[in-house]
Amino acid sequence: APDRCAVTVDARSGTFAFDCAPGETLLYAGLAHGLTLPHECATGTCGTCRARVMSGEVDVAWEEAPGAAKLKRDKGDVLLCQTRALGDCVLRVPSDVLEKPVRHQIPAARHGVIENLRRLTSDVTHFEIALAEPMDFDAGQFVVVEAPGLQGARAYSMVNHGSGLDRIELVVKRKPGGGFGDWIAGPTAEGAKVEVFGPLGRATFHPDEDRDLLMIAGGSGIAGMMSILARAGEEDYFRTHKGYVFFGVRTLADGFYLEQFARSVDRGHGNLEVTLALSHENLGDVRHPEHGGVKLAYGFVHEVAAAAMAGRYDGVMAYVAGPPPMVDGAIRSLIIGGVGRAAIRYDKFG
Ligand code: FES
Repeated sequence: APDRCAVTVDARSGTFAFDCAPGETLLYAGLAHGLTLPHECATGTCGTCRARVMSGEVDVAWEEAPGAAKLKRDKGDVLLCQTRALGDCVLRVPSDVLEKPVRHQIPAARHGVIENLRRLTSDVTHFEIALAEPMDFDAGQFVVVEAPGLQGARAYSMVNHGSGLDRIELVVKRKPGGGFGDWIAGPTAEGAKVEVFGPLGRATFHPDEDRDLLMIAGGSGIAGMMSILARAGEEDYFRTHKGYVFFGVRTLADGFYLEQFARSVDRGHGNLEVTLALSHENLGDVRHPEHGGVKLAYGFVHEVAAAAMAGRYDGVMAYVAGPPPMVDGAIRSLIIGGVGRAAIRYDKFG
């Protein structure tokens, strides 16, 4: 295979060119060049990074990726996040592409080392990655992590945020049959070398947008909300804005970050409400159940949020993150509630 492949992208907004190194996905190479190629998950599940190979040879890493289910493969459609160039190629992208992201850092690949693993609940682990080169990222952004010997890549939102950081904080929830979650909970993860690509994601918080904040998260999807809460705290944002956080877990024992929430509520001038939605623990007849300043409710988080927010959606920017069915459910109820698509930012993982 050649050393570098020349990639041409024909988008609705024009034609762009970049170089791809061997082993690099077309998505990573294009994003690292500063192109705003369409993508959401960067890990093969969402299907947003669809493109058509007009000429040239490519190699698809994960043929069965869920995001590839609806591709017209006979026409040459691929997922950019799962595809590598084997030579020069021309791609058609069915959307507008811009040459440099306005607000965000241009993502890049970095080496990292896993450190400070810490169990938060029986199936949730906090960990950090020490980065070989520092990274700037906004509250709400994520990275894609590849670990040695594990198939594929996983996306994780950072719990922290900032400029020139050489350490990112992440949280992972173990899922049945979940390769990365099992590995991170196992004995070989501490000190392991990983590859990190990022920062990615547009579900970011910018205080100058001057909106009330509604956050709906399931499981480890709460990570990005923690960084948004921290960023808002730095600005004393809840002195002048409202904030509503809905965090879905199975039972109270599965809840984490509860002390952090309590502290944020404490400093929230009465304008920040945090609700823990318990899908598998009925609270019986308790009136206004709460736990250390955090409200408790019984039900799926998007339903709890929809019931609590009815009539209060005005002027909010909504952030949603978690497993795909939860995110889809939340977006549906936001739209029914009258929140416009431009005021909904989401990540489907966690
Ligand atoms: Fe490629 Fe989601 S970005 S499938």
